[in-house]
Amino acid sequence: MQKLDILFVASECYPFSKTGGLADVVGALPKFLKKLGHNVIVVTPRYYAIDRSKLKKLPAPLGVPMGIIGELWCGIYEGVLPNSDVPVYFIDYELFFGRETLYNDADGIGFMDNDNRFVFLSRAAMQLCKAIDFRPRILHTHDWHTSAANLFLTTIYANDEYFKRCASILTIHNMQYQGEFYGGLMNVLDVGWEHFNFREVEMNDKVNLLKAGITHATMISAVSPKYSQEILTPEFGYKLEDTLKTRANDLWGILNGVDTDEWNPETDKFLPFNYDADRLDNKLKIKRALQAEVGLPKRDVPLIAIVGRLVKQKGIDVVAEAIHRLLDMDIQIVLLGNGEVWTHFYFGDIMSLYPKKFACIIGFDSALSHRIEAGADLFLMPSRFEPCGLNQMYSQLYGTLPIVHGVGGLEDSVQNYDERTSEGTGFKFYGLNAKNLVNTVGWAVYTWYNQKERFKAMQKRAMRLDYSWERSAKTYEALYFEALKRAQKD
Ligand code: ADP
Ligand code: GLC
Repeated sequence: MQKLDILFVASECYPFSKTGGLADVVGALPKFLKKLGHNVIVVTPRYYAIDRSKLKKLPAPLGVPMGIIGELWCGIYEGVLPNSDVPVYFIDYELFFGRETLYNDADGIGFMDNDNRFVFLSRAAMQLCKAIDFRPRILHTHDWHTSAANLFLTTIYANDEYFKRCASILTIHNMQYQGEFYGGLMNVLDVGWEHFNFREVEMNDKVNLLKAGITHATMISAVSPKYSQEILTPEFGYKLEDTLKTRANDLWGILNGVDTDEWNPETDKFLPFNYDADRLDNKLKIKRALQAEVGLPKRDVPLIAIVGRLVKQKGIDVVAEAIHRLLDMDIQIVLLGNGEVWTHFYFGDIMSLYPKKFACIIGFDSALSHRIEAGADLFLMPSRFEPCGLNQMYSQLYGTLPIVHGVGGLEDSVQNYDERTSEGTGFKFYGLNAKNLVNTVGWAVYTWYNQKERFKAMQKRAMRLDYSWERSAKTYEALYFEALKRAQKD
């Protein structure tokens, strides 16, 4: 098998930076491609929180042409993905990336210069290849933040010695965020105004970076098979469905995996006790410790977890509507998240109303998220849309049964409980509204109280599921070879 040189470009990468699942994917997939024998490098920003003293500085600064802005010079630091020898190159440009948050200010408003910041990242990745003498066969970008690189490859770098054998992949992790900016950004992209047309970059008289990626990538993937179909429809396509339809033959759906270096109850370093399917008594001990940690009474009731970005995508508004009816049951809920500001106040108030039943932690805390996944009995994820979703996979591997709305990756990765056959690993509903949500939580709670053996069997089944990255990485490998063939670069 031919070994490929692969360039990953992404706006976040765990454990260096993270706002959501994108970081988990970018921090994991390259390791597994490497295990298949490929040579992968990752390019990502050096945000304020990333400690430069632990990284190696490359001797020369990197010049990044930014069209009308001129050439900007940045530093490059080199590190490595943990548990691997995959190099990570950090683009160090204080003015753009020296901030504590990645995309938004403290009030959740997107930074005014996000257009320049991420065009810069995309262009810097291309320039870096020349500086370190790396000739990628595959350029793999992620979401709108880096999809300008797909455009650069077929324009500015089309005849460049370094990229002449390179095909590109754009992975769509979320269609809702598209990077739509004023038309003048064309002068910064510097690819020529002839590309500012409806078939390529233009949308509503603006530059749409995701669209540019969709139209210029050799092939496209979405992070679950179901989502790859959903985004061809108006409900999930966020107005890019018609553009995507023109690329439907080049679109694959590949389910994300779980990085078991990070998410494995047998070895998880964030847990007070480790466990597996045959040692569920330790899971109960973690539950008790978690109840104490978040200030809930140590009662023998189902503990339901919610962890995630508190935004409409996650159906948090429906949880808000249903919360009193949910808390009418003899249960406890622990919520960890941040996002839309109203949710911070709203759920704070709910906690004062139900101090013995509802614990709410507003913030981002990776260690606590592991303890919650492990300590809870059930995991609630009623997403309005979910490109893949990782928490429902983590929770299943931790024996915490998910309650989900059957869309996207949730549909692909959770098998509904079937009372007749006793099969399944979670509880699913269709039609997102408070009534269906409450009914399904009620069903899960009933099962916890009244069908204890079946609940336990479901937990064990869930813990033995295979969400390994090995399998998905092989599908990405097949996608890369297919892209090289279609671009006639093989
Ligand atoms: P999305 O990428 O849409 O936010 P995913 O389910 O794919 O959703 O991934 C979310 C990731 O971010 C998971 O690893 C989850 O544990 C983590 N996460 C989300 N919110 C928080 C938080 N407040 N604290 C800690 N981890 C969080
Ligand atoms: C996005 C999606 C989420 C997916 C993650 C990683 O943030 O919202 O569903 O799991 O990307 O692909």
